[in-house]
Amino acid sequence: MKDQLEEIRRRALAELGDDAEAEVVENVRVRVLGRSGELTEIMRGMRDVAPAERPIIGKLVNDIKREVEARIEALQEHLRARQLERSLASARLDVTLPGVRIPRGHVHPVTRIMEEMLDILCGMGFEVEYTQDVEDDFHNFAALNFPPNHPARDMQDTFFLPGGMLLRTHTSNGQIRVLERRRPPLAVVCPGGCYRRDDLSVRAAPAFNQIEGFMIDRRGRITMSHLKGVLTEFAKEFFGETRVRFRGSFFPFTEPSAELDIYCLLCSGAGCAVCKYSGWTEVLGCGMIHPNVLRAVKLDPNEYQGFAFGMGVERTALMKLGIDDLRLFYENDVRFLGQFPSVAGGSR
Ligand code: DAH
Repeated sequence: MKDQLEEIRRRALAELGDDAEAEVVENVRVRVLGRSGELTEIMRGMRDVAPAERPIIGKLVNDIKREVEARIEALQEHLRARQLERSLASARLDVTLPGVRIPRGHVHPVTRIMEEMLDILCGMGFEVEYTQDVEDDFHNFAALNFPPNHPARDMQDTFFLPGGMLLRTHTSNGQIRVLERRRPPLAVVCPGGCYRRDDLSVRAAPAFNQIEGFMIDRRGRITMSHLKGVLTEFAKEFFGETRVRFRGSFFPFTEPSAELDIYCLLCSGAGCAVCKYSGWTEVLGCGMIHPNVLRAVKLDPNEYQGFAFGMGVERTALMKLGIDDLRLFYENDVRFLGQFPSVAGGSR
């Protein structure tokens, strides 16, 4: 019996060498210590052992049991540590690596530029009023002193809608819409979409945005000097550019009329496609509101006077952002759009 026990111990410890695999360890555990394992079997056969021998055999069984248990525990501990080491080595994790950036959208550069323009104008005391894109002839043309069938209407190729409506060709309808509802003194800007039957090109698009502005008060209070002052200041704030010129022009709804040019920021006056190789770029149209426009909204031109201006947002954005092709704004290529993140504190 003693020899049998010694043999069990010897075999178990021999199998439980330092490099024993988990499977071997488990097999030994079951074979030696299990419910019907070798040691259990010996305990069961105790009654056949001479009574004097029993305590000696019993002690030996317990010693072997403890010894094998301790050995198994040590090996299992070792195996667990090795397993952890292996998994750490295979799934190496560098916590100092920068995280994956989650792509985040932002406002379209044209929207951003429009908001910048409105911010400057609001800072000068203008209020923002949104008016409608779908208009009638009266508000888009007639009230703005475009006579019926007058060639001036050819300046703007209109999208006509069924039922005598049209898509506004400019935001100047805002002057009429606002002045029908409100009386001067007023300083208002009307941003919004405009539509013309133009092909998409480097400089033009069939749908684009404008900001119309006007300031009206009692006659003599708002003059051409105020117009020049406000717009020169705007150019300075928006473009950081003071080289501007007012060039005489014609619009049916203003008299006198002018266009404001700034020194071309894209080519610094050298000449490029955007400035049509002139070195100057037209930024906006402006003038003193024509008496007929005031009459159309039932204001007496002998009592009231004011100025108006209108500017294209996209073309101005080209200048400001240093881009030479308007079509880029409409292609929605995120590689392009992503270059113009919103300004700090920008809305939406
Ligand atoms: N409505 C003109 C256009 O679309 C822009 C414009 C010019 C607006 C002169 C004005 C102005 O208010 O005074 O081209």
